[in-house]
Amino acid sequence: MQRTLVKDALNAPGPLDAILLQGWVRTRRDAKALSFIELNDGSCLKGMQVIVDAALPDYANVARANTGASIEVHGKLVESKGGGQKWEVVAEKFTVLGEADHTYPLQKKGHTLEFLREIAHLRPRSNLFGAVFRVRSRLAYAVHQFFQERGFHYVHAPIITASDAEGAGEMFRVTTLDLENPPHTEDGKHVDNSKDFFGKKAFLTVSGQLEAEIFASALSSVYTFGPTFRAENSNTSRHASEFWMIEPEVAFCDLAGNMTLAEDFVKYLIRDAKEHCAADLAFFSQFVDKGLNERLDFVLQRPFQRCSYTEAIEILNQSGKTWEHPVAWGDNLQSEHERFLSEEHFKCPVTVYNYPRAIKAFYMRQNAGCEPGRETVAAMDLLVPGIGEIIGGSQREERLEQLRAGMMLHHLDEKNYWWYLDLRRYGSVPHSGFGLGFERMLMFVTGVGNIRDVIPFARTPGNAEF
Ligand code: 4AD
Ligand code: MG
Repeated sequence: MQRTLVKDALNAPGPLDAILLQGWVRTRRDAKALSFIELNDGSCLKGMQVIVDAALPDYANVARANTGASIEVHGKLVESKGGGQKWEVVAEKFTVLGEADHTYPLQKKGHTLEFLREIAHLRPRSNLFGAVFRVRSRLAYAVHQFFQERGFHYVHAPIITASDAEGAGEMFRVTTLDLENPPHTEDGKHVDNSKDFFGKKAFLTVSGQLEAEIFASALSSVYTFGPTFRAENSNTSRHASEFWMIEPEVAFCDLAGNMTLAEDFVKYLIRDAKEHCAADLAFFSQFVDKGLNERLDFVLQRPFQRCSYTEAIEILNQSGKTWEHPVAWGDNLQSEHERFLSEEHFKCPVTVYNYPRAIKAFYMRQNAGCEPGRETVAAMDLLVPGIGEIIGGSQREERLEQLRAGMMLHHLDEKNYWWYLDLRRYGSVPHSGFGLGFERMLMFVTGVGNIRDVIPFARTPGNAEF
């Protein structure tokens, strides 16, 4: 007999004479002549109530069905007499597949998130993490749907790479050299990297953007969606050493078009979650973030604000706030500034654009007509309430000489980017793109406050368990 998922059983149009459920025991309550078991199989937040009559030949098995045990139930789907649920299953055959004893760590509700991180191999069985990872799965699907519906092609950017896409030097090295006893150059002074696996130094990618630009210069509209790695030593609730990024890249598109795409994309993902993960979102707004529903609706209803970096600095300096990090024109915006802009000033997502050239990546397009000493590039960051930066992007420098100047300014060696420069030599076009941090988007949609709780197995400085 075929298994039915709890999600489908709960939505059954009518009673069923025969049904097979498989899952894990959440709770069990034994009354005199009956036992009540809540069976959860992860297909949805809710479990199915299973009733086992003490007169059943299998009833002896029930005593072994403790919280955490895996079970299989053949029975009838009948209308529930109790409140709280429409359907319940009256067991006819009851089997325990795998026992769980009193040491099972998820006995009671009310564990701290910190504790649950230590049992990342079991936390998907809790209500909160079941919901988080269902939303994660759904939104990954929606990412593809959004771009495929718009004629974008999916590009698999490499994970091992020799070039630093952000030029920020925050890369993890990939090597097969014997670190205790590496080969040396003939003069004995340096490690001979030509003897390494790839014949040169290699790293884990920080971004698939440069490769996406190659493909946008051929297929017009593309996106990547894959893991990216940053060896930045920031232990915050928004930074992970391994995270997933979505990077669209669009030929013949300028900064304004890029901002519109980013706004449409974020709104699409929110709408999709509301439509397909309603029960999970309701759970988050009850237990994680009371204002979640209103916040998501508010974000959908209004156009995102747009504000230049120069205006943003003025707003920050006229706010009357005392900042932990005071800001002047030319400084990077810190999290406190980003959050003030979106949470308190605009009270809505805001795209800040045209940042100082010196603080942004080498590939961003130089703006014309800047005051001397105030050169800017066509960069954009989307800032959202509760999180700050969720998207970073730009129009790219498509002019060869300007791009070389940008590389010089950022002390990058042209030799390592010869192919990237070639794109500006042959059929160069104006083009733009951005990166959305998938985990930050999940934090925004679920209200979960720590990035470690929206990724199955978080990698952060000092932590790579599981
Ligand atoms: O602003 P970033 O560094 O931009 C890029 O990597 C560009 N190449 C993107 C592009 O234009 N194609 O990163 C983009 C986004 C950030 O806005 C943030 O949401 C996320 O990636 N992000 C991180 N998420 C989690 N942990 C980290 N350490 C992150 N660093 C960036
Ligand atoms: Mg950024």
